Amino acid sequence: MENPQTIWFNHQKQLVETIDQRKLPFQNLIFEISTLEEAEYAISQMVVRGAPLIGVTAAYGMFLAARNYSGNNLQLEMKLSAEKLKSTRPTAVNLAFAVDEALSVILDQISASENVKNLFDYAENLKQREIDFSKNIGKHGLEIIKAISKSKNGEPVQILTHCNGGRLACVELGTATAPIYLAHEAGIPVHIWVDETRPRNQGARLTAWELGQAGIPHTIIPDNTGGHLMQHKMVDMAIVGSDRTTLNGDVANKIGTYLKALAAADNGIPFYVALPSTTFDWALNDGIAEIPIEQRNANEVSLMEGMLNGEVHEFRIFPEKSAVANYGFDVTPARLVTGLITERGVCKATRESILSMFPEKANL
Ligand code: MRU
Repeated sequence: MENPQTIWFNHQKQLVETIDQRKLPFQNLIFEISTLEEAEYAISQMVVRGAPLIGVTAAYGMFLAARNYSGNNLQLEMKLSAEKLKSTRPTAVNLAFAVDEALSVILDQISASENVKNLFDYAENLKQREIDFSKNIGKHGLEIIKAISKSKNGEPVQILTHCNGGRLACVELGTATAPIYLAHEAGIPVHIWVDETRPRNQGARLTAWELGQAGIPHTIIPDNTGGHLMQHKMVDMAIVGSDRTTLNGDVANKIGTYLKALAAADNGIPFYVALPSTTFDWALNDGIAEIPIEQRNANEVSLMEGMLNGEVHEFRIFPEKSAVANYGFDVTPARLVTGLITERGVCKATRESILSMFPEKANL
């Protein structure tokens, strides 16, 4: 793998570069971001996606907005930029978190150039934090995989995942995939059931591409296959990521996650959610009532993209006049979650357990 990171600042060109995730796995192209508008575009059009990466991109977007501003009211300009960025995608809380933290580093009493430098440092710092979070999520999740592996007599641990909670959704290693990468590195045999994840197919297009690059055995399955596999004892555990998790442990993740959690509960299969602290929404309790669920364009459902004779084509797959609903996420209630794998350790999906892991959040 050439560059394990998904986003970086190109000092020579003085702009941000990222992998254009819309093109994978057919083409591996770099997308350049040099303005606030390009950062907004990258997030809303899913050039970048996945909660932690959206957060880091937004932080760089704030830096670029400040760097390109030549007026004399930076505070106001940055508040407007923050609102624009926040409106690009509503569900992943990392976006609002990163934008609000970036706003908090801007000070009236220092020069514009010092503010620009501080915003750049903030973006780089958030990126490094996400890398460290992923590493620690990996270490804690690895212990769970190790424990399951002991009862498998050398057979692979069968892990089901949904969407892409991989390095592409983060900066390095990922959330859901971090324990998988570390298990593979440690020589523990694993096999991953990769949910295709309609409509954008993040599983089939991105998770499968990532796992393939790392040489990790995997099989892509249509989204409605998991329940059958679980009934036939072909899944030992599920690990998914999250876009926003409430203080009570309700988990918003890619649409379809809830159905997998239901099937896992019915079959007594552990269902884990891997997430960094930047994905907790410390202000919310009831995920179903309170988490905003993004609805996206109908074309994502009615059009499919694929390779034909070496070229990428888009195909309509059902009648043009049929109505389409395209909810991006659903909420898995805390009672269906076996554990939350965070950078500080594994906790239960309950308020008490989450706060015992993050006691500093108790009085927010
Ligand atoms: O719409 P996306 O592709 O941004 O959704 C991403 C997911 O649902 C991921 O699984 C999620 O961000 C959690 S892992 C970082």
